[in-house]
Amino acid sequence: MAKKSIYSAIDVGTTKTCAVLANISENNAMRILGVGVAPTRGVQKGIVVNIDEAKIAIKEAVRKAEHSSGLKIESAWVGVTGRHISCTNSRSAVAISRGDRLVASDDLGRVLSAAKSIEVEGDRQLLHVIPRQYILDGNVGVKNPVGLHGFRLDVDAHIITAAAAAVQNVVKCIRSLNIEVEELVLEPLASAEAVLRPDEKDAGVILADIGGGTTDIAVFRDGSVWHTSVISVGGYQITRDIAIGLGIPFNVAEELKKKYGNLSYDKPPEAEKVETTGLGIGDGHSILRQDLDDIIRARVEEILRLIPMELPPSEYSSLLPAGLVLTGGAANLPGTEMLAQDILHMPVRVGVPTGMAGLSDILYDPAYSTVVGLVLWAMHHAKDEPRQPQGFSRGKAESLARYMATPIRRLLEK
Ligand SMILES: Nc1ncnc2c1ncn2[C@@H]1O[C@H](COP(=O)(O)OP(=O)(O)OP(=O)(O)O)[C@@H](O)[C@H]1O
Ligand SMILES: [Mg+2]
Repeated sequence: MAKKSIYSAIDVGTTKTCAVLANISENNAMRILGVGVAPTRGVQKGIVVNIDEAKIAIKEAVRKAEHSSGLKIESAWVGVTGRHISCTNSRSAVAISRGDRLVASDDLGRVLSAAKSIEVEGDRQLLHVIPRQYILDGNVGVKNPVGLHGFRLDVDAHIITAAAAAVQNVVKCIRSLNIEVEELVLEPLASAEAVLRPDEKDAGVILADIGGGTTDIAVFRDGSVWHTSVISVGGYQITRDIAIGLGIPFNVAEELKKKYGNLSYDKPPEAEKVETTGLGIGDGHSILRQDLDDIIRARVEEILRLIPMELPPSEYSSLLPAGLVLTGGAANLPGTEMLAQDILHMPVRVGVPTGMAGLSDILYDPAYSTVVGLVLWAMHHAKDEPRQPQGFSRGKAESLARYMATPIRRLLEK
């Protein structure tokens, strides 16, 4: 019987942890075999701050995913986020020294090794080195130079580094459950896999995943990633504003936000009240919907205005004609799309993962873009090579480069 590859992903979010097992169906779609979700504790603004608490959520999500699939997660692609992420674009070059001057895949390997061999500070780790374009004898925009003639091959690469301690804490949590980390993936890159179309990436587009604790940004141009950034603000701050502004407990504010929050222009009459009886803050309380929406709008506007401020100085609206794709749990807030269009003066849509088969029902929600994208990332980037047993090590890029090219772990062979 043919071999089947199972891909597992774990997204340790600030509010929820999600584990997914999937494979590729006969018609090349992603088939979800198991999903597990558990509320997260011990994570703030995308960063593990309490390993024991974070482990409980991961363990629970993994248990549920394994239970629903009947399979065991032995290794997984894992998301990383947090304000500690930083990125840069850099260029590296090699000479094509063979007599025929034909670029071979070795040359591609050499130029990528050159890009990966940058020095990173001792307290930081290289997370990704992503080739954006090749330049052959000064001709820019070459996507695949193999087979072309040339003397000099350059690569423009997008380089992403992370604080070593933050990364190691996530890895520690996962490994303590006897799960190996196949690869760490920057969360906005994962979300982009799930919700961006190739034509948007070609034209120029911003992806913003507004989660519980962070807003994760990835900008694509000419089909490749151009900029990545993480802002430490998300849905949690919206809820906190409601709690403080209306003088109600956080969990009630969270419920109110999800149930009644609405930034659409066809909003209810100003005087309409939300009865909070049954939400756990006692009888007789009522809150003006207008007050609720005003509080939410102020914070959402702030988050939206922060997005272009994170981009390198540029005429972003003309460079990125495909506009902004919003995803993450907070993108569920009705009216956010229109508000973003008004504020940023660019096309905006909400990105929801699609095209899945199997146990995928709950995943058709912007809150699951990252975990679905992690599985897609695994399917697109996994290499069928023996995995390097080494763990994460600090310092030079080579050790991480090995990690970046880790293969599919075949959990199930039939
Ligand atoms: N219908 C809704 N209306 C408003 N906000 C919502 C809605 N549904 C979910 N949210 C908000 O989305 C946030 C959670 O989003 P998500 O699940 O993407 O975050 P996370 O992955 O746990 O966190 P992060 O990615 O920031 O680490 C919460 O703040 C939640 O209140
Ligand atoms: Mg998230």
